[in-house]
Amino acid sequence: MEQQLARIAVFLSGGGSNLQALIDGCKAGILAGQIVWVVSSKTKAYGLTRATDEGIETFVFKPKKYPSPEEASADLLTQLKQRQIEYIALAGYLKLLPSNVVAAFRNRIVNIHPALLPRYGGKGMFGHHVHEAVLAAGDIESGPTVHLVNEIYDEGRILAQVRVPILDGDTPDSLAARVLEQEHKLYPRALNKLIRGEYEVNNG
Ligand code: GRF
Repeated sequence: MEQQLARIAVFLSGGGSNLQALIDGCKAGILAGQIVWVVSSKTKAYGLTRATDEGIETFVFKPKKYPSPEEASADLLTQLKQRQIEYIALAGYLKLLPSNVVAAFRNRIVNIHPALLPRYGGKGMFGHHVHEAVLAAGDIESGPTVHLVNEIYDEGRILAQVRVPILDGDTPDSLAARVLEQEHKLYPRALNKLIRGEYEVNNG
């Protein structure tokens, strides 16, 4: 019997290389899902172009354009429901998700972070800030983390990690590139495991 494909929304703010990895994972059958909606906090995010090129519907979510934050988050949730979204994957989304969305999708929202959480997470820990902190601490390894999303930045349950060695002479850029390569392999596989119920979380 053919497996039903999970309906996934991806939220991003930037280049969208992880969006691309998820799209490619769906095509390759690594991820039993389909990306049906891409939401960006920024109008000019290149991830929006990637989505459009793949024929995926896009939306720019700017809460300040609504009369109140409550109306913004209510509209976002309504739109997610209208599209029958089952899972949300954050892929470089730099805003906190509205709490009504987190509550409605409890244990069905994942994020990928470019360091080994619980270290190097929290507000302000994104992009090069993360890799600079890892190098400044003199760590010998780093690597991506996929985790569930709750109301606090980077604090949800850790689902999967990959360790990446730190090499002599590494710069934030060289380390970021090595970690990103692993993110692209890890993210579709970890989301697939969540969808298949292999992490034993209550995602009903
Ligand atoms: C990645 O490093 C990811 O870990 C972090 O934001 C970055 C997004 O990169 N959450 P991209 O837009 O997917 O290329």
